[in-house]
Amino acid sequence: IATFVTMGWLIATRAARGAHRTDDRPQDVVAAAIVDDGRVLLAQRAHPAELAGKWELPGGRVESGETHATALTREIREELGAEIEVAGRIGAEVTHPNGLMLYAYRARLRSGTPAALEHLDMQWFSADELRRLDLDDVVPADRDWIPELCAVLDDA
Ligand code: CDP
Repeated sequence: IATFVTMGWLIATRAARGAHRTDDRPQDVVAAAIVDDGRVLLAQRAHPAELAGKWELPGGRVESGETHATALTREIREELGAEIEVAGRIGAEVTHPNGLMLYAYRARLRSGTPAALEHLDMQWFSADELRRLDLDDVVPADRDWIPELCAVLDDA
């Protein structure tokens, strides 16, 4: 009987997972390094409490059926009210402790003026300003991207 109960439980939990996930790959999060006039746009998270006030590359979760580029374009439209053109990857992918996989992409503004619609604040950073930024003030998952961001700005 215990075997049947266990099998039933396994089938039920797999079915429950399948209801909102179609596969077992980690969920992807995409973030935009929007570069303009030699500076990159960082936004200050409003939530959750432990990340509130920390700087991040704006972005969010890729929803089913979206490519990384369409997800990132949608997230930036929702969060900053601006249209972007997504270019190549920047830095390495980062595995978030909660299992998410984060990918940063270089982007440029197509239209609109970014505004902190869902963030506490936003700011354009030069390479020198990025180098002076205290890493404690950056969302942990995004810290590894800072050196590569500086290199991109140095070349911009
Ligand atoms: O709004 P949505 O759930 O799509 O995205 P989010 O809350 O902005 O990000 C989803 C997860 O990715 C959260 O755990 C964020 O902390 C993380 N994230 C990150 O670490 N660095 C970023 N640049 C963007 C998101």
